[in-house]
Amino acid sequence: MPTKAPELDWLEGDVPRAAGFDDTYFSRAGGLAETRHVFLAGNRLPERFQGRDRFTIAEFGFGTGLNFLTTLAALRAVDPAPNLTFVSFELFPMTREQLKRALGAFPELGSPAADLLEIWTPEPGWNRLKIAGAELLLGVGDARRLIGDLQLESDDGPGEGTAIAPVDAWFLDGFSPAKNPELWDAALLKAAAELTAPDGTLATYTAAGWVRRNLQAAGFTVEKTNGFAGKREMVVGRKA
Ligand SMILES: C[S@@+](CC[C@H](N)C(=O)[O-])C[C@H]1O[C@@H](n2cnc3c(N)ncnc32)[C@H](O)[C@@H]1O
Repeated sequence: MPTKAPELDWLEGDVPRAAGFDDTYFSRAGGLAETRHVFLAGNRLPERFQGRDRFTIAEFGFGTGLNFLTTLAALRAVDPAPNLTFVSFELFPMTREQLKRALGAFPELGSPAADLLEIWTPEPGWNRLKIAGAELLLGVGDARRLIGDLQLESDDGPGEGTAIAPVDAWFLDGFSPAKNPELWDAALLKAAAELTAPDGTLATYTAAGWVRRNLQAAGFTVEKTNGFAGKREMVVGRKA
């Protein structure tokens, strides 16, 4: 089955908005600053990269790749940097042209953005890409189905699944929970918790009550903290 690209509108400043979800991919107040506040600082990154040989991040909603590329930029400032594996899920991968336009607003992302564009040919299922020394494991399809393919490499014996190291940090970045409940689904978050390292963390821009309850039921402890750009609250958490 071929992939289905999203139908986009472009708001001021070339902020993409998905017509199907009636929501933007990142804050109109600044995508890069939002990523740094919510997903990096929310997971205490880049500090937690220090002293690690390798580090695994997983994300729901690859979108424009802004979170991935901002993470790579943060990693560049760490010496020695851990080997990064970034697992992400995307049901509606953008076309190269859409990605190029969206990322064009962030020249500070540097050459990894150009590298991503160059090798961007997402196929349904698991895509393994190497960018700036990091591994991007991109699952193209519905996260609720694809997450079942992942297994922890510590699990006994060679399994049928795609092996990953336990996830150190989650970027929970679906569209707004009211518009994209699939990515905040209780069973999906439970599967995420099962793939998480004992001291693994999560961050998300939403503080919706039912999302917090789903996270707690999945096995995370969560707390509210200051949101980005006028948003009163966001949520951070760790494996309970
Ligand atoms: C807010 S955007 C993510 C923004 C992204 N992290 C970035 O850095 O640009 C949410 C993404 O989740 C994707 N999505 C929505 N439902 C999904 C599902 N069931 N499985 C996988 N991806 C999904 C959307 O297509 C969209 O790209």
